Amino acid sequence: MAADPTPADRFSFGLWTVGWRANDPFGEPTRPALDPVESVHRLAELGAWGVSFHDDDVIPFGSDDTVREERVKRFRKAVDEAGLVVPMATTNLFTHPVFKDGGFTSNDRSVRRFALRKVLRNVDLAAELGATTYVLWGGREGSETDAAKDVRAALDRYREAMNVLTQYVIDQAYNVKFAIEPKPNEPRGDILLPTIGHALGFISTLEHEHLVGLNPEVGHEQMAGLNFVHGISQALWQDKLFHIDLNGQKGPRYDQDLIFGHGDLLSAFFLVDLLEQAGYRGPRHFDYKPLRTEDVDGVWASAAANMRTYLLLKERAAAFRADPDVQEALRAAKVDEILLPTLSRRESVEQFRTADADFDPDSAGARGYGFVRLSQLALEHLVGAR
Ligand code: GCO
Ligand code: MN
Ligand code: MN
Repeated sequence: MAADPTPADRFSFGLWTVGWRANDPFGEPTRPALDPVESVHRLAELGAWGVSFHDDDVIPFGSDDTVREERVKRFRKAVDEAGLVVPMATTNLFTHPVFKDGGFTSNDRSVRRFALRKVLRNVDLAAELGATTYVLWGGREGSETDAAKDVRAALDRYREAMNVLTQYVIDQAYNVKFAIEPKPNEPRGDILLPTIGHALGFISTLEHEHLVGLNPEVGHEQMAGLNFVHGISQALWQDKLFHIDLNGQKGPRYDQDLIFGHGDLLSAFFLVDLLEQAGYRGPRHFDYKPLRTEDVDGVWASAAANMRTYLLLKERAAAFRADPDVQEALRAAKVDEILLPTLSRRESVEQFRTADADFDPDSAGARGYGFVRLSQLALEHLVGAR
């Protein structure tokens, strides 16, 4: 059985996750507001390492400087007393009606200027609190009708905002990098930079692309019908996995933000296996919503469930890798052979073209790979049958 979570596991939570009052488009909140100070202490008691926040989670939108200072001081004190860190911060560019057509890409230039100023101000706070990752989730950047948005120009404005932000952290000598969080839709009908792939393509056009990576969320790629493990693999391959939002989702439908593992469990198993094998050192950040049916006790039970699920999957994945039957099945399936370059060292294209005269495509085509056996072994480890 997996051990209890400790700060060494680097588990972190958004204040807005446990703090979600469970209002949805059809119903009122079912839970009282939580004081961020209480959330910080409860998360620390449960074994979390870090807490992240949107500016508005700590400082209510529109607060004057006195309230702002007082709120920041109170939050900072709670974090210090609880022994947590603030690994990541982000901006709310989606709740207030001013952002109904987006922040960085609103058609209204005055809104774009307001949004960018809001982010700059919170980047200062992020740096002050020691956060090294700044997440940008552009939930309102997009449209419902293609008549409404010049997408090419909107991408110019998105890039302009990113170039301003990266230049700003360079000028201030802040140890902060940006992580874009893709999502295909919701709240907008179609959101810009909808998937990991779109975001990677966009990042490659930026002035300071080394300062910009990704914060992919399990559910968001799955809403688009995509394989999250493949997406994360490519993000790692391009050194762009700056942060990750772990949660659960049951296929393409509204954004469920379920507890990690409470959606596609096999995918969660292979994700943990990947993160642990690849030596990912970033936060294991949970971005989920406690079910609307739960009371405040249920909120803390759900926070604990995220961490426990991760640790159980980590333990199961390690057992899978250590099993001699699995190692043999991996070899039989040639999973390690893909590590070999296709051409030999110093083999010229000329040599290569005339090599392998005895290769028989028919017999190679007839050989089974044994992937079913491997897949079943993984499942058996996952359910604790081995
Ligand atoms: C979602 C998003 C958000 C963002 C968060 C950070 O569920 O649609 O994940 O939760 O991650 O707001 O800006
Ligand atoms: Mn989500
Ligand atoms: Mn998220």
